[in-house]
Amino acid sequence: MTSCCEEPQFNKEGGEVEKMDVDKHEKPAIAQELWFQEDEKELVAKHSIGATVRAGDRTAKTADLKGGYQEGGFVNLKIQKNDGSFDPLETRVIVYSVVKKMLEEIEPEDLEGTPLLQKTKADLIEKLKRLYGRDFTDNDVVTIVRFEYADNLKEAGDLIRVKTLTYAHEPKENPKNMDIPSYTIPLIEHDYPAKTPVMWNAAYRKFGIDAGNIMLVGDSQSAGHILDVFRKDAKYRGGGAGVGFKNEVITYLDELEPLAKEIGAVNFIMKTPEGKLKGFNTDGIGYAQSLEEVFKQRQEELRGKKAVVLGAGGAGNAVAFALAEKGMRVVILNRTVAKARDLADKINRYFKKMRINETLRFGGEELIAAEIRDADAVINVSTKGSAGELEKYSALAPAVLPASQENIQENLDRTKELLRVIPQDAIISDIVLGKEATPLLKSAKAAGFETLDGIPMVINQGVEAFWLLYDKELQSKNITKEQVAEVMKRAASS
Ligand SMILES: NC(=O)c1ccc[n+]([C@@H]2O[C@H](COP(=O)([O-])OP(=O)(O)OC[C@H]3O[C@@H](n4cnc5c(N)ncnc54)[C@H](OP(=O)(O)O)[C@@H]3O)[C@@H](O)[C@H]2O)c1
Repeated sequence: MTSCCEEPQFNKEGGEVEKMDVDKHEKPAIAQELWFQEDEKELVAKHSIGATVRAGDRTAKTADLKGGYQEGGFVNLKIQKNDGSFDPLETRVIVYSVVKKMLEEIEPEDLEGTPLLQKTKADLIEKLKRLYGRDFTDNDVVTIVRFEYADNLKEAGDLIRVKTLTYAHEPKENPKNMDIPSYTIPLIEHDYPAKTPVMWNAAYRKFGIDAGNIMLVGDSQSAGHILDVFRKDAKYRGGGAGVGFKNEVITYLDELEPLAKEIGAVNFIMKTPEGKLKGFNTDGIGYAQSLEEVFKQRQEELRGKKAVVLGAGGAGNAVAFALAEKGMRVVILNRTVAKARDLADKINRYFKKMRINETLRFGGEELIAAEIRDADAVINVSTKGSAGELEKYSALAPAVLPASQENIQENLDRTKELLRVIPQDAIISDIVLGKEATPLLKSAKAAGFETLDGIPMVINQGVEAFWLLYDKELQSKNITKEQVAEVMKRAASS
């Protein structure tokens, strides 16, 4: 995160302290602090100040290089003493409104909440002159920054009020109302048509749980502040952590389930009866279950079967752990061999004591041809085949970039060759989700293989998380995990 501070507001030499030249090529920094003066300390302590007017453009997108204030962002209020040093007092606030105006446009209501004694433009001009050491005219630009004290944020709805979080609009059936008895909140960084709200809300209705699943969008850099509020919020029961939040939330949780700790990523947060926030990772188990279901239909089990896992990123971590836990013989092959090695070492260390599987192996993409010859499952967990420049590449063969027709064709031709090497009864799987089947799955289907996509993984990890939260309540009503899975599956495909 960019660290940035304000210029001192007092200029004892009378020089101009604000710098108005904007280098158009440099991105404005986001300000992290807001300074008040010693004589305003009492007002800050009593939370009586809720706004301030700064000279110049201090809006996040167009601010000069001192840094702009971002709506929804947290900053620290600091007290600068008359000798220029700082008081240790630091108060956390959240900025919810940043408005740029010319001084001539300032109305008395713009000055409400500021420390000015008389809320008049004349008073403001006088104060700016004192702070910045120069005269101000009606043509000067100023920025009105409004904020709320972090102590006053008690519920998730407050985070929406101050713009730290917004409702996701793309998922089907995402309620835009926090005024309900309890809720689970999946956090995501970018709005997308996620299935979680429709799945969870169907289960809430079906099993008579008076709660809602409300997906909210925010900046994962505010994860610590967001979780502080969730911890205080009696209505918050838990919820998902999407891409961006998966790693970021870990530092701010009170407890971590051992597997999530090993994987280094959390996809689900549960509030314990003691009010602690505990992190889990159900991504991997969700995938392992979906593969298990495929083998079960053949009257076979996962234990002892060989899985060739293509990729070693965040999803690869979770999937490889879960498959190893199921007793599969896992080989991790990744473009960057060091990452495959680190992951294999980590998993081997974790399972060493339990001796539940043979040592995991690893390698680079050049080993794909050799390792798939006796594979029972070949699973893509890399980003090959996902939206963007890799969209048209199959994960079974190297992806030479740029994504030219020639390079893509070479990848697809090589995939065809490699598919001929794989035993015909192997499962070819790809967790990458898209509007249609990935190039790997399309090629595998064309070659007559049974395939498995990433949708069952989404459903299963949702069921696992729902069960973690509500198992006692559901069991007391004689509701089984299978019934939850059935409801969520139906909702996801609706
Ligand atoms: N279905 C589900 O529920 C579900 C859940 C989670 C994730 N996913 C999907 O899984 C995919 C991976 O996610 P992630 O979070 O693991 O991503 P990540 O942490 O960024 O890891 C990316 C992986 O892709 C590999 N990769 C990237 N570019 C490559 C290239 N040009 N050639 C070969 N390998 C390349 C990386 O290899 P290097 O180490 O060499 O960079 C790494 O192994 C995403 O598409 C995500 O949407 C699906």
